[in-house]
Amino acid sequence: MAQKITIVGAGNVGATTAQRLFDKGYADIVLVDIIEGLPQGKALDILESGPVVGSDAKIIGTNSYEETAGSDIIVITSGIARKPGMSRDDLLLTNMKIVSDVVETTSTQSPDSILLIVTNPLDAMAQQALKISGFPKERVVGMAGVLDTARYRSFLAQELDVSVDAVQAYVLGGHGDTMVPTVGPTSIGGIPVSDLIPADRLEQIIQRTRDGGAEIVGLLKTGSAYYAPSASIVEMVGSIILDKKLILPCTAYLEGEYGLNDLFVGVPVKLGKTGIEHIFEFKLTKSELAALHKSAESVRETLEIMAGK
Ligand code: APR
Repeated sequence: MAQKITIVGAGNVGATTAQRLFDKGYADIVLVDIIEGLPQGKALDILESGPVVGSDAKIIGTNSYEETAGSDIIVITSGIARKPGMSRDDLLLTNMKIVSDVVETTSTQSPDSILLIVTNPLDAMAQQALKISGFPKERVVGMAGVLDTARYRSFLAQELDVSVDAVQAYVLGGHGDTMVPTVGPTSIGGIPVSDLIPADRLEQIIQRTRDGGAEIVGLLKTGSAYYAPSASIVEMVGSIILDKKLILPCTAYLEGEYGLNDLFVGVPVKLGKTGIEHIFEFKLTKSELAALHKSAESVRETLEIMAGK
């Protein structure tokens, strides 16, 4: 039987993810949104590309959840973007409600699924998904590190005029200003990045990586990034569905790793058919570890707002 992937939210990120997954052809897709006609129209449009792109995958759009039953993976991109006059906290509480409702319904319909959370603020939304679903921590994972790392790798490849394939890198921490683009585990063709790029220039690249999302928002003016985010989701989905066991920076629930407890933050994980199969503890420098803890602190502050503290 074909694997089944549900994508909740047929906006920019969700619909582009649906298209990229459909093109791969290895799973059937259900696209869900609250807006009537939107997921149906986008799904039909994608389906009709099948003969041209050579995909026999099935894709349907819907406003209800019956069709999502028995999914292997649920990708959650539903949420709202910040509107004028809305505080970050208002946004947080609105998206928390949306994610909670979606997780409650989808986790009941697909009790054996893996939840892949994309809605921002990502780390806090993953925590909410774990709480509402009651799933084991291995089956709740957030997408942020693959995207942040893709940006870091793109900038490093550009800087050195080499293929992106030659750049191995990891961005850890929360998905926000406090993320931690690492230097030690980052290499180009096996050569440590610090041997190839002077420290002050590397710091500029790291800062551009941290500001990567804002740079796109600044250019687009309405809306945020979705091509690189959807590509990142598809890499994670592929690693799970095809049991590739890639080692990817993902948002995972920590219980003691890196000295952190009871919260989601971006760390290197092995991603396979059972979800997060292992969390790797990289040897970080003192300052990188301190930055990771600072980043975790800001995730914890968001959790406290959610808990009404
Ligand atoms: N159930 C289903 N869909 C919903 C719900 C809900 N309760 N609430 C909102 N949606 C849908 C909206 O109708 C919209 O189509 O979620 C979609 C969000 O799409 P966009 O506004 O285009 O946002 P997008 O750019 O796709 O980003 C989605 O991903 O990267 C993150 O920060 C980003 O949190 C944001 C999310």
